[in-house]
Amino acid sequence: MKTTVSRKSYLRPLIVGVCAALLVSQRAAAELPRERLSLDANWKFHLGDDWPNALHLDKAGASTGPASERFGDNAWRLVDLPHDWAVELPFDQNSDGSHGFKPVGPGFAKNSVGWYRRTLELPKEDVGKRIWLTFDGVFRDATVWVNGWLVTRHEGGYYPFREDITDIVHFGGKNVIAVKVDASKFEGWFYEGAGIYRHVWLDKTAPVAIAPDGIFVRSEFGNKLPTGNPEIEIEVSLLNKLTNTAKATVSCEIISPEGKSLKRFSESEKVKRESQRVVNLESKVSSPVLWSPENPKLYKLVTTVSVDGKVVDQNETTFGIRTVAFDKDKGFLLNGQPYELKGTCNHQDMAGVGAALPDALQNFRIARLKEFGCNAYRCSHNPPTPELLDACDRLGMIVMDENRLLGSDKENLRKWEDLIKRDRNHASVGIWSVANEEFSVQSSPQGGNVAKTMQDFVRSLDPTRPVTYPAPQDDTFDGINGVIEVRGWNYQVGKTPEQYGKNMDSYHAKHPGQPNVGTEQGSTVSTRGIYENDKARGYVSAYDVNAPSWSNTAEEWYSVFAARPWLSGGFVWTGFDYRGEPTPYYWPCINSHFGILDVCGFPKDNFYYYQSWWTTNIVLHLLPHWNWPGKVGQEIRVDALSNCEEVELFLNGASLGKQTMKRNSKLSWQVKYAPGTLSAKGFNGGKVVAEQKIETTGDAVAVQLTPNRTAIKADGADVSVFTVSVTDAQGRAVPVAQNLVHFELSGAGKILGVGNGDPSSHEPDTFVPQMPVRAIAVNGWRWTLASFPTERSKTAPEYAPEFDDSSWNTIKPKTDGDTGEMVLREGQTAIYRAHVKLTAEDLENPGVQVRFANCDDRGWYYVNNQRVGESHDWQEQPLFDIKKQLHAGDNVIAVGVKNDGGSGGLNPDVNVEIVGKSTASPWTRSLFNGLAQIIVQSTKDAGEIKLTATADGLASVTTTVRTQPSAPRPFVP
Ligand code: GAL
Repeated sequence: MKTTVSRKSYLRPLIVGVCAALLVSQRAAAELPRERLSLDANWKFHLGDDWPNALHLDKAGASTGPASERFGDNAWRLVDLPHDWAVELPFDQNSDGSHGFKPVGPGFAKNSVGWYRRTLELPKEDVGKRIWLTFDGVFRDATVWVNGWLVTRHEGGYYPFREDITDIVHFGGKNVIAVKVDASKFEGWFYEGAGIYRHVWLDKTAPVAIAPDGIFVRSEFGNKLPTGNPEIEIEVSLLNKLTNTAKATVSCEIISPEGKSLKRFSESEKVKRESQRVVNLESKVSSPVLWSPENPKLYKLVTTVSVDGKVVDQNETTFGIRTVAFDKDKGFLLNGQPYELKGTCNHQDMAGVGAALPDALQNFRIARLKEFGCNAYRCSHNPPTPELLDACDRLGMIVMDENRLLGSDKENLRKWEDLIKRDRNHASVGIWSVANEEFSVQSSPQGGNVAKTMQDFVRSLDPTRPVTYPAPQDDTFDGINGVIEVRGWNYQVGKTPEQYGKNMDSYHAKHPGQPNVGTEQGSTVSTRGIYENDKARGYVSAYDVNAPSWSNTAEEWYSVFAARPWLSGGFVWTGFDYRGEPTPYYWPCINSHFGILDVCGFPKDNFYYYQSWWTTNIVLHLLPHWNWPGKVGQEIRVDALSNCEEVELFLNGASLGKQTMKRNSKLSWQVKYAPGTLSAKGFNGGKVVAEQKIETTGDAVAVQLTPNRTAIKADGADVSVFTVSVTDAQGRAVPVAQNLVHFELSGAGKILGVGNGDPSSHEPDTFVPQMPVRAIAVNGWRWTLASFPTERSKTAPEYAPEFDDSSWNTIKPKTDGDTGEMVLREGQTAIYRAHVKLTAEDLENPGVQVRFANCDDRGWYYVNNQRVGESHDWQEQPLFDIKKQLHAGDNVIAVGVKNDGGSGGLNPDVNVEIVGKSTASPWTRSLFNGLAQIIVQSTKDAGEIKLTATADGLASVTTTVRTQPSAPRPFVP
């Protein structure tokens, strides 16, 4: 049945993004067939499930709406990837708190489906190459079409997927990619974002090439001890898409961390037609430089494939030479030595950008974690984006790479395999995790079976790394714990000194042969700059005193683990705050309080606790701040976080006593508040080795902007992260300031997002540009039964503006939500015409388009006798950009309509839409306890980014970041 269509509002607000510059790829003419091109730029985006029936499974190429090649997406916003539309939505108290109160997911159908489209040209010279489309991660349930062909449906929001699209692309022409993303289900219980939030790639290869993720390089020492010269074992999977056997030669070159060529070796193999074959090679490296977080030195493997003496493929793989193992008594061993894991668990989520982190922010975050001595990163609770692993390889961070869901069925094992094959060359990846806290099945024999199958599968894909399971269980060996190689401990430390560590000790005594690791520990809840719990505002004191019932403070868990080296150290929940899980509160809190750093990466006080005991720096930090005008004469708790042997505290020069520090602990004083200077001296061996002071500040007089990098690459991807603060007349940062700050950017950059770390802030993180739309109704339609040519090149006399249609039938627009006058019978064709008057001023606007309510069943559209498009689905709301075809004065819109079945015709609700200039969105953010953050990204133009920050009554500031010429990664314009 298709007689009635529920009409959707054609006046829905139109949001159009800022155009990214259409630049051509910088890549020189490729000498090699392999090209990896970024497809991140210039996607059109539409939020809303306006084409619920676009997917057609009856015939190939039959999908409609945005899935169809011919769909008009002019009115859609331009976005660059990575993109997370959830972060753009306002907070909503009725939505899921654990996901951060964003109205997306179950119950929020309106905001849960997004469409992306983009075009790309493929040159004729690419004929003969294989063309691959790769998505690093889409949240979630992606349906992908290329040129109208359904290419794939991929559900898992955290796994990469790729398709060979060679058969369906147009070489020497335009290709259209359409992606429907359906985030109406959750996969986790934390903020997950929505959209194409990781990179998209177009890979071109020769028909004989290295298969996707087809290289595995590993260093093998005997007994996992890095003595002697390691064997470098290499597997290269070759893919032959030819219809004949290919004799391929694989040549490898190993390059040292200093860039010196160390070894070259090769093997030849026959690869049968239409098949894949693994070629094994090996070599030795003498006196290797071992990779570690402290010395993250990377080797490079250059793999070249030739067929009949001609190079057909080349690939570079970075790898590290190192060993990882767990010992039942000594804990984690890196390069054969006990190595305490000083880890944090983290989600892919940050202020300003949500789940869509540009690569530079991965670096920013890993570097921040390293500042307090963190050397290990657990990707809770899902596979990471590859660029996170690149950052960990380069900067030095051991990774626990985690799978999302426990399962040994075909689909789950395929995802597990994809994850391992993609990530196993990364030096940083030290441990695989099969899943997290699988409460329903973890203690059952079946849970054990599944975990064992997954673990055994790892052996065949990666014999070099151990496997764990983060278990929220105490002294139990049932199910997964009984089979897993390394027992993972989520919490279970105990809440009183008598209980501390008892579960672990008793388990260890019963199962002395099984190694252990603290997979999820801590976790203090605290709010940066807050020193009293405040339930109404949703803030928790930043003294290390609050932890939920199942967990512990920093000092509690770490003291227990530090005393038990066989536990291998652990991963704190969490390094950074993240959206969702606002424990111990609920609305108005919208993000977690677990972080050692807040969502922006600003340190909370616990940062210095960990820095004291996780680094060899001399640390002396005092809390709280010293601006308490209402508390003169009242006692305030002052803590010193330090690794000095003794600390002496002073108020306005008078000593308040010296105390001796216990290892892994902190010191406290009760101090009667008086404004002035609170200071401390740290002593080692009786000598002053550190001094620290905090002063009571005056009122703020000026805004300050401090970029973390003053020069970034002009590659359209690099980022500078600005800290926003305010200072008093003496230039001291005011720790309690909450000023609203306005930002303006000019030059070669754009603002990606803002944040301030306030877990209860409902201010927007992004300001999406809005384009005003004015609709002009097209009335006075006339029609007649007539035939017309459908070929692009032909036209009919009835489309001509001067054609006399006065004898045709008339129709009036219907306003009752029904298409109404659908008078064509099955198989009939008709032409419809109407006039619309536009002024020269109308045409000066950035966009003029025509929007049809629908055309039943198919339409061929003309403006002033020039063809503007087609529609092939009666449910579609055709939309065409017609600015070029219009002129000031009278214009004629004409549509040829063919009805395929039932009653049909043109819905006369038609509007010409005048799309105005994007209204400049003023970016603002309040400071939260003295700080805010603004994230700025370069364009591909070298030059300067000027950022100005202003706040009422304060001196404003303009800060410049240089953007230096830099070839962007090769990309599709
Ligand atoms: C853990 C869980 C984490 C997070 C945390 C909050 O049990 O693994 O994902 O939910 O609790 O305390």
